[in-house]
Amino acid sequence: MAFAVQMAKGIFDLVREDLALVEQEIAAQNGSAIEPVCEISSYLREGGGKRLRPALLLLAAGASGYRGESAIRLGAVVEMIHSATLIHDDVIDGANTRRGRPSANARWGNHMSVLAGDWLYMQSFEMALRERNFAILDILIDLTQNMVEGELLQLTRLGRINLNEVEATELAYGKTACLFSGCSRLGAVLGKQTKAVEEALAEYGRNAGLAFQLVDDLLDFTASPEKLGKPVLSDLKEGKVTLPLIFALEAAVPAAVEGDGNGAHSHSNEDGRRLVAKVLEERDFQSVRPEQITRLVKETGALERARKMAREYVSRAKESLSELPDTEYRRALLAVPDFILDREN
Ligand code: IPE
Ligand code: IPE
Ligand code: MG
Ligand code: MG
Repeated sequence: MAFAVQMAKGIFDLVREDLALVEQEIAAQNGSAIEPVCEISSYLREGGGKRLRPALLLLAAGASGYRGESAIRLGAVVEMIHSATLIHDDVIDGANTRRGRPSANARWGNHMSVLAGDWLYMQSFEMALRERNFAILDILIDLTQNMVEGELLQLTRLGRINLNEVEATELAYGKTACLFSGCSRLGAVLGKQTKAVEEALAEYGRNAGLAFQLVDDLLDFTASPEKLGKPVLSDLKEGKVTLPLIFALEAAVPAAVEGDGNGAHSHSNEDGRRLVAKVLEERDFQSVRPEQITRLVKETGALERARKMAREYVSRAKESLSELPDTEYRRALLAVPDFILDREN
């Protein structure tokens, strides 16, 4: 918990106490599970994490004029849904590290991890049901289905070197942004806001979530595993062609086509496509060294372009809040996208 709040550089101060209650609620729910599930979910909870999704929900609720038990409960719900997707995602990706420790699948194996994730999904829905509010259930069911569809769609697109920007953005929405959007939308629903405000907050979350996934994709190229708490340069090995790479591959075409007088440059970009194809084929860094890929995304300006795009999502997220009344919660919401952009883990 202290970890989560510390990571947020003070912007979640407004909801610090509520986040502590969310944490208690999650711990109580985990405690009600049978032994292996309890162990796995507690392990994940104690491993840290930023608690960004409950924080977003609590702030959006505050900006919508609601504070109270329902926001705490739903904060726990969205974090538990997030935990379930992390556990399943690491099984699917065959990832060994999460939150700086061995992942659940690395410790308990795939079978146990899949079932623990299933249990967490169902427990979160049981909790949400206590609200006796169909609008809330609609949002949660919709976003959970979207997330599963996002992971499925990603599987069908693994290893495709010609993935385009639209397809990658669609994946980012499913994997990540729809949960962010659902969190801020739930805040508006709790505050019984108009449909217009609900849509504005949902749009805010969507853009913040797209920025978040883009930064996640960037950190895979630029972070250290110690800071990130999960392996770096793993997306490509897993067959994921993310936006920074798409931009790097796009940059290769004009240089080659225009013959810009810089033979060495266009040549290296052409090489870039071959390098990426090789890693995708081998699903590992065998013939290609990781530094070659890092150099490719740097030298083609792809990292800079992806960062610019993340900044655009951040601006759009902030603009979505323009019609909300000026409260301390709205001001905190305005600071969240910058935190997302500057985050190092
Ligand atoms: C990781 O999310 C999964 C992605 C959407 C990229 P976070 O980076 O928010 O994970 P924790 O909860 O802080 O560990
Ligand atoms: C993130 O997918 C979305 C999830 C639902 C976990 P990634 O595969 O990019 O997430 P990380 O990088 O493993 O956290
Ligand atoms: Mg993963
Ligand atoms: Mg990732």
